[in-house]
Amino acid sequence: MDTSFDMFIETEVPENQLIISRTDLKGVITYVNETFAQISGYEPEELIGKPHNIIRHPDMPKSAFADLWETIRRGETWRGYVKNLRKDRGYYWVYAEISPLIKNGEVVEYKSIREPMSREKRIEMQRLYDKLRAEEEGTSRVVLYVRNESLEELGKYEL
Ligand SMILES: Cc1cc2nc3c(=O)[nH]c(=O)nc-3n(C[C@H](O)[C@H](O)[C@H](O)COP(=O)(O)O)c2cc1C
Repeated sequence: MDTSFDMFIETEVPENQLIISRTDLKGVITYVNETFAQISGYEPEELIGKPHNIIRHPDMPKSAFADLWETIRRGETWRGYVKNLRKDRGYYWVYAEISPLIKNGEVVEYKSIREPMSREKRIEMQRLYDKLRAEEEGTSRVVLYVRNESLEELGKYEL
């Protein structure tokens, strides 16, 4: 049997720094702050004008985004846990708040701010999203958690 092994590195999201982005009504990025760019591994110019799903992680279930769009299109704020994909294919977890900006009773754009999550919550959400994805797609995968400090150890082995 062929076995493949991928290792993806988690980027820790700093406390007390805002991670901000804004989009038009279609979810095309119109603004990111410097912290957003740094954490996602892109330059701001690479992100502006791109659909926000440029940082969508394949581990995210479809249902999470369906709920997000239904909520913000109604003019309400959505809050939830999101695993994002970095440019280098690594990932980072955030607790996101995404809300519409309403002018004269109409939604004109969307904005979002994000904050870090505890390690326990990240593991809990990974399990939940794996389960939801398995239900949605009928696929499953095994996830291995490696502490950052153990990476040097792993480096000794040919993976
Ligand atoms: C303001 C705003 C911020 C968003 N932030 C993220 C995000 O950080 N990560 C993400 O995967 N999707 C985010 N989305 C949702 C994406 O637009 C998109 O729906 C999602 O990545 C799933 O991709 P898909 O709709 O092509 O399936 C955001 C949407 C809006 C309106």
